[in-house]
Amino acid sequence: MAPTKDQIRERLAAIAAPDGRKLTESGVLSDIVASDGKVFFSLSVDAAQVKAWEAVRKQVEDAVKAMPGVTTAMVALTAERAAGKGAPPPPAAGAPHAHRAPAGPAGVPGVKSIIAVASGKGGVGKSTTSINLALALRDLGLKVGVLDADIYGPSMPKLLAIREKPQTIGGTRLKPISRYDLAVMSIGFLIEEETPMIWRGPMVMSALTQMLREVEWGNLDVIVVDMPPGTGDAQLTMAQQVPLAGAVIVSTPQDLALIDARRGVAMFKRVNVPILGVIENMSYFICPQCGARSDIFGHGGAQHEAERLKVPFLGAVPLDMTIRETSDAGLPVVATQPDGPHARIYRDIAQKVRDALAGPGAGRTAPRIVIEA
Ligand SMILES: Nc1ncnc2c1ncn2[C@@H]1O[C@H](COP(=O)(O)OP(=O)(O)OP(=O)(O)O)[C@@H](O)[C@H]1O
Ligand SMILES: [Mg+2]
Repeated sequence: MAPTKDQIRERLAAIAAPDGRKLTESGVLSDIVASDGKVFFSLSVDAAQVKAWEAVRKQVEDAVKAMPGVTTAMVALTAERAAGKGAPPPPAAGAPHAHRAPAGPAGVPGVKSIIAVASGKGGVGKSTTSINLALALRDLGLKVGVLDADIYGPSMPKLLAIREKPQTIGGTRLKPISRYDLAVMSIGFLIEEETPMIWRGPMVMSALTQMLREVEWGNLDVIVVDMPPGTGDAQLTMAQQVPLAGAVIVSTPQDLALIDARRGVAMFKRVNVPILGVIENMSYFICPQCGARSDIFGHGGAQHEAERLKVPFLGAVPLDMTIRETSDAGLPVVATQPDGPHARIYRDIAQKVRDALAGPGAGRTAPRIVIEA
């Protein structure tokens, strides 16, 4: 029989926090998610005390794993800023954004910029775009990481045909998996494919924070974050928690997708993350037999929308069987057909992204292209 929440709490009461108090009385424990022997919860601690808590986190996780009926236990440590040290206020309207103060969350040591690839709508090609954009940035000579933040439906294991588990360094930090010279991390590497996704808000957040901060990313120019679809609270929190230098919005040309793309732009505006630009995916179709081009979704919609929203348009990627087939086979097109037409398109987009990141006040805090909040 899998233990109940109360039984887990009881077990946790026997574990001491670093200050000697019972864990259950230390105020750090999140809601406990327990379902079918799978247990997830987080410990939200003061950032200054993370080191002291790491050993406790491990002890807690081991204790829960050892309970009869528990098949999986994941305990995440999330560091919270002490009250009063929150994010600086956003710049006044009209203030030069290049001098924008650092966004709320702290950066990841050794990583120059983190960018999000997002969309309002699901299935528009975020993950496909993320991996190919990452590879194209690599082709430009950058050192690149990929963080699959789609906790509900991770894509990177499939897109890169990764089946191995990441190794740990010193028992606590994870080493990203290396593929095509990219450092890659995904929740999909840590859980079995059949594991039901019972993550809830706080769980999602702590898993993301862990993947960002407890992974040995090394020295990177940029991490490309493949975001989950949607513009709800979970996405908003993510956008706030990750120190983003900018966001790339992916949209298909249809009106409905464009409405969602607009929501995506608005969401990042709300949390003061600059929009690096919009990519139109599945923009047009080239007939594999005759080579004729057709605009089945009404090509150009995203470009017009970008103009309307006064954000840069980064490029159009066709709807093409090669892109789908290579993605499905775990052989992304930019890596496996570097001289083909698709790789060229992604590299053009990557150049624009790189230039946007390299503008005045470059780095994780202040890309050049910004929109007024
Ligand atoms: N330009 C393209 N041409 C052909 N197929 C594409 C293209 N872009 C994406 N696809 C295919 O469309 C499907 C959805 O793409 P993808 O998984 O990248 O979307 P997503 O926005 O990440 O989806 P989700 O919202 O589920 O995370 C996949 O089968 C992918 O191979
Ligand atoms: Mg995806």
